[in-house]
Amino acid sequence: MTGQGSPAAPDAAGAVLAGRGAVVTGASRGIGLAIARALAAAGARVAMLARSADTLAQRAAELGGAALPVPCDVSDAAAVGRAIQVITLAFGSAPDILVSNAGIFHPQPLADITPDAFAAAIAVNLNAGFYLAHAVLGGMRARGRGHIVTIGSVADRVAYPGNGSYSPGKFGARALHDVLREELRGTGVRATLVSPGPTNTDIWGDLPGTGRFPSRDAMLDADAVADAVLYALTRAERVNVDELRLSAS
Ligand SMILES: NC(=O)c1ccc[n+]([C@@H]2O[C@H](COP(=O)([O-])OP(=O)(O)OC[C@H]3O[C@@H](n4cnc5c(N)ncnc54)[C@H](OP(=O)(O)O)[C@@H]3O)[C@@H](O)[C@H]2O)c1
Repeated sequence: MTGQGSPAAPDAAGAVLAGRGAVVTGASRGIGLAIARALAAAGARVAMLARSADTLAQRAAELGGAALPVPCDVSDAAAVGRAIQVITLAFGSAPDILVSNAGIFHPQPLADITPDAFAAAIAVNLNAGFYLAHAVLGGMRARGRGHIVTIGSVADRVAYPGNGSYSPGKFGARALHDVLREELRGTGVRATLVSPGPTNTDIWGDLPGTGRFPSRDAMLDADAVADAVLYALTRAERVNVDELRLSAS
């Protein structure tokens, strides 16, 4: 932790989040892991989703008994449905919180993107958000309470060269959030879009340092994004944080 975030304020957050059931996708590393840690520190039960079962099990074990590793490819609608069933059984009720965070980023000139690569990016960065929201919304609406957080990106509003498979998914994820926000008004279920700028995680691979991208140490850290998510989750129930956009100062 480099001090950009303050998710270590579990006392205040704990008053709101203790005992709540949260689902975090892409929780095996990076931003999703930071969000899962912050939620667990605030006393929430956290179902952690990602494809890599072994890594996920290790990271969940580090968070203690509050964390439940659920291996799942979120681009597979049937697998998402099964995962939410397993989580609902484990929690004893439908999830209170969904953080739709899993994403992939493979910058390439448009001319070089294959149809399969484009479809794979849309499947994770857009379709998965629909599958997940669809699977949890019934339980949240029946309870009259819940919160769906979508992790967008600076690239959900701004087009950059090389983002031909990334921005369409993220623009779409922002649109999905906007529709959810409008449909959920007055239901007690909240929806928040958190859109970070470049954040120091493994999603970047070896790209920084090539001149096109900021260096890793000039980026946000994952805890700062987790802090923004916890901020939205812990507002008074009548307050919906519609959108948060983060960039390094
Ligand atoms: N880092 C940034 O600069 C930045 C900036 C703005 C927005 N974001 C967004 O923030 C989110 C998290 O990014 P990150 O930087 O933390 O990335 P990351 O370090 O690469 O982590 C991505 C996570 O998503 C999981 N994942 C990928 N594909 C999946 C699939 N099909 N099913 C289930 N899980 C899957 C990965 O686990 P497995 O590989 O094991 O499945 C991993 O846990 C993404 O939506 C990204 O677009 C990142």
